[in-house]
Amino acid sequence: MENIVIIGFMGSGKSSVGRELARATQRFFIDSDFIISARENLSIPEIFNLKGEGYFRQLEGDFIHWAKKSLRNTIISTGGGMPIFNDISSVGQIIYLKIEFDEIIKRLSFDEMQKRPLFEDISKARVLYEERKNIYERVADKVIDANTSIGEIIEKILR
Ligand code: S3P
Repeated sequence: MENIVIIGFMGSGKSSVGRELARATQRFFIDSDFIISARENLSIPEIFNLKGEGYFRQLEGDFIHWAKKSLRNTIISTGGGMPIFNDISSVGQIIYLKIEFDEIIKRLSFDEMQKRPLFEDISKARVLYEERKNIYERVADKVIDANTSIGEIIEKILR
């Protein structure tokens, strides 16, 4: 069965939704950042600081290649930049969790922002959000309003 790939901006709930969706549909769940971090044995901020963003994007490319070849019937949650820098079109069905930037700010704690190198500065993150939102929309097979609770998001996807 086809994979489901969850995309969207940082803090849109991709991992939480992916986990719940996997449970609800009896699929496996995988998080690209988790796999990349494990492969390098470094945290995401460490990869950015020690090796640079370009290197991280290459690792995302490697992940996509591997996922296409090796994953079936899996819910895949992605890092927010994955569909911006790489082509994810043949990995699976692509679901975009669309959320307002101000809603993300309400949800993310200071610690959650610190874990994300591209969220250290809120005004820069807002610019990034504006730059990316049309790309998410364009590559998605389905767009889901993610300004609501996880339960409601899951229901909408299952429908
Ligand atoms: C990034 C998003 C992060 C992580 C990295 C870069 C981005 O993942 O991959 O910090 O470019 O949007 P989340 O979307 O899970 O925060």
